[in-house]
Amino acid sequence: MDGPKRHEMRGGKFPNKRSGKAGSSFPGGGKPPGKQERGWDGVAGWYDKLVGADGSDYHQHVILPAVMELLDVQKGHEVIDICCGQGVLIRHLVAAGVERVLGVDASGKLIGAARQRYSGEREATFLKADACAEGNWADGTYDSAACVMAVHDVPDIEGLMRNMAASLKPGGRAVIVMMHPCFRIPKESHWGWDKDQKIQYRRLDKYGKPLEIVLQTRPGLGTDESTTFYHRPLAEVIGSMGNAGLGITDCKELFSHRRSQVGPFSKAEHRAAEEFPLFIGLVAQKL
Ligand SMILES: C[S@@+](CC[C@H](N)C(=O)[O-])C[C@H]1O[C@@H](n2cnc3c(N)ncnc32)[C@H](O)[C@@H]1O
Repeated sequence: MDGPKRHEMRGGKFPNKRSGKAGSSFPGGGKPPGKQERGWDGVAGWYDKLVGADGSDYHQHVILPAVMELLDVQKGHEVIDICCGQGVLIRHLVAAGVERVLGVDASGKLIGAARQRYSGEREATFLKADACAEGNWADGTYDSAACVMAVHDVPDIEGLMRNMAASLKPGGRAVIVMMHPCFRIPKESHWGWDKDQKIQYRRLDKYGKPLEIVLQTRPGLGTDESTTFYHRPLAEVIGSMGNAGLGITDCKELFSHRRSQVGPFSKAEHRAAEEFPLFIGLVAQKL
């Protein structure tokens, strides 16, 4: 009998179908977008619909609760959401009593969707900007900075972290939540079934070098809509934070809330869901 069939982000709300050539290495410091990189404007309608006002299933049950816990927002705080997309985090920040939140994203269309969604919230403003390039918006006035599910979507992690640090007041808090680079690498990580031990295991075909992986968002439609996923080993993520003057103070590994239906593989799937984290959250303080 075949083992259980679980795939990367199946049924999830992030790009899960991939196409294009196998990921190629890119310089550790990141590189400017290549020719195939069209940014997120090309997939903005799809992403906005997928995430909606409340967030994907993973946003709702795993990611956003963790982000809010790690941010530990206090009433009156000023917060910046870097790579905010269509603004899925904003509602939670406003509900927590922030005085001001700025959402920054490179996609004009996603920023437009966020502006429309939050037009009634006086605390929320949005800016179209490249999170990796120097900008006046990273002005040292924020109590905390979040980057949710986007560290792997930018080509220049050093630039991103520099801006996270630059946006914060001294002692301010930076929080990132991202796909766990040790367990989830599109195209290169898979579930496997060990029929002798009856366990589901995690298989990684690559990890140790940066990868640039093209993800086709809706291959069924025959369009070439795609985004690029930048895999980096964990040391590179942590190192880029340190280089930017962000000292890590906490780390949380986040596991799936999903549990399979009762069946021949459910025990093994349950165990695997508790053993292998999907996402990682890092908290850092501006030094
Ligand atoms: C997977 S989405 C996550 C969006 C949002 N934080 C969420 O959780 O729904 C990745 C986001 O990163 C943004 N992004 C990618 N590269 C960027 C860059 N260089 N500067 C600013 N935003 C960027 C995209 O436009 C997209 O909105």
